[in-house]
Amino acid sequence: MFKVRKASYEDATAIADIHVSSWKSTYTDLLDEKDLSNITYENRRALWETVLRMQKKEQLTFVIHNEEKIVGFISGGPERTKRFNYDGEIYTIYLLDEFQKLGLGTRLLKVFSEGMKEIGYQSILVWILTQNPSSRFYERYQAQPVGEEVSTIGEGTYQETAYGWDNIDQLLKNLP
Ligand SMILES: CC(C)(COP(=O)(O)OP(=O)(O)OC[C@H]1O[C@@H](n2cnc3c(N)ncnc32)[C@H](O)[C@@H]1OP(=O)(O)O)[C@@H](O)C(=O)NCCC(=O)NCCS
Repeated sequence: MFKVRKASYEDATAIADIHVSSWKSTYTDLLDEKDLSNITYENRRALWETVLRMQKKEQLTFVIHNEEKIVGFISGGPERTKRFNYDGEIYTIYLLDEFQKLGLGTRLLKVFSEGMKEIGYQSILVWILTQNPSSRFYERYQAQPVGEEVSTIGEGTYQETAYGWDNIDQLLKNLP
């Protein structure tokens, strides 16, 4: 019923929609109200149009969809800080609320990790707001907390945790 495929430019509006609605419901209880408006449909659409118009070979974006619509996405590429001993990074993974906890995040993570391995990455890092309960998802697949950082969202400062898989092959073995 659900299929995963590479995202194309035409998916930018659907991805932006999911990004904003899932971000809002995930972070409503975790961020100050004024900081929640840091992410808007307009700025996400502009971002996704840019990312998907000229796709870079070292970056990957996948969507998961049913017959009706796209319900989630994952994106990533080179690890951005260069301060960790990890070469790849998940930049974003979001599912619409009503499609969470059905195993779809796992399917996205699997296809993404296979894709990252195929283009030569050996490890994957991902940042998540320390208070976000979705960190359990990464822990479920044996990601290790490897760093913490205070980052700015809007006008607020929030603690984030980096989780890492130092071996993509091992991650793939742990995925169903
Ligand atoms: C994080 C996310 C992508 C995970 O995808 P998902 O489809 O919901 O997760 P799955 O159903 O594949 O879950 C796999 C395992 O992780 C666990 N898990 C997933 N999310 C969890 C959560 N919030 N709390 C506790 N456990 C969680 C599941 O219980 C499951 O474990 P099990 O196999 O022992 O039952 C999804 O929940 C989501 O979009 N969350 C909101 C957005 C977000 O916070 N994204 C991360 C920002 S960095």
